[in-house]
Amino acid sequence: MARPKVTIVGAGQVGATTAFLLLEKGLADVVLVDVAEGLPQGKALDLMHSRSVEHFAPTVSGTNDYADTADSDVVVVTAGLPRKPGMTREDLLAANAAIVRSVIPAAIEESPEAIFVCVTNPLDVMTHLAWQVSGLPCQRIFGMGGVLDSARFAFAIAEETGAPTETIDALVVGAHGEAMVPLPRMSTVNGTPLTEILPAERVEALVDRTVNAGAEVVALLKTGSAFYAPAASIVAMLEAILGDTGAVLSSCVRLEGHYGIEDVYLSVPAALGSLGVLEIPELDLDASELAALRASATSVAEAVAAAGL
Ligand code: APR
Repeated sequence: MARPKVTIVGAGQVGATTAFLLLEKGLADVVLVDVAEGLPQGKALDLMHSRSVEHFAPTVSGTNDYADTADSDVVVVTAGLPRKPGMTREDLLAANAAIVRSVIPAAIEESPEAIFVCVTNPLDVMTHLAWQVSGLPCQRIFGMGGVLDSARFAFAIAEETGAPTETIDALVVGAHGEAMVPLPRMSTVNGTPLTEILPAERVEALVDRTVNAGAEVVALLKTGSAFYAPAASIVAMLEAILGDTGAVLSSCVRLEGHYGIEDVYLSVPAALGSLGVLEIPELDLDASELAALRASATSVAEAVAAAGL
């Protein structure tokens, strides 16, 4: 069976790290495409140099020409500016919107059947824009936000409790930004809800740490934003898509009446497979969780409207 082909638009920190993980896991042949001349070619060559050390089977190439991306099974969009200290993801909006508007049509022209995974920030607004520009059914174009936020919540829980990460199941839904909604009642250590393990103020501190986790990384790095955990989160989604597993992952999907929310992209658990979003099974949220999710949806809808999309 032919190996799947994954195009990664944007050969920067997130894009190249995603490529490395895909190669290491043997998941797909990879094409890195970028506007910067030499950058995707150089990163691809460097990655290929690691092949005889790591002995992975797939190949990677770098290009500035979308013709080389033809017939990709999945296109991951990481093109765009990352945050600098003090910036919110929303500060990136105008510059990244122009980039998304240009890369989506170019990629679709070469890979009309592909599944598209958006990563560029501000994530929920850029995913909405990508969907709008693409003309694709929303099942085939969605974003990576909730997997990363859930991973960061899991890390905060692990640090606080000392529990091994494999015993922790953490869930964050909502916008990938200040309005994200960590769900302590649905996050467990060895199957026990966090709310039964820790006092309310400790839970609240972990929630705050999760909401600010990306900014914490940006403040330390000073140049650019997180990329290892984002890349790992993208690859978790690609494993479900390429393997057609139906795994349920918190993903930035378009809600069309789910949770009483209409026509907004934001993260909720979604089953992913080779056709993209297979199903959005609804969580049994209590009144305050549902209110928080709806408030998060309102913040995304307002950002979309403010951007004139
Ligand atoms: N087409 C293709 N690539 C582009 C374009 C474009 N029109 N515009 C910019 N790029 C490329 C840049 O040349 C750069 O190589 O996108 C890449 C972005 O890489 P980095 O600056 O390293 O940013 P990164 O940390 O990878 O973040 C990318 O993901 O998590 C989000 O907020 C983050 O929006 C940002 C995106």
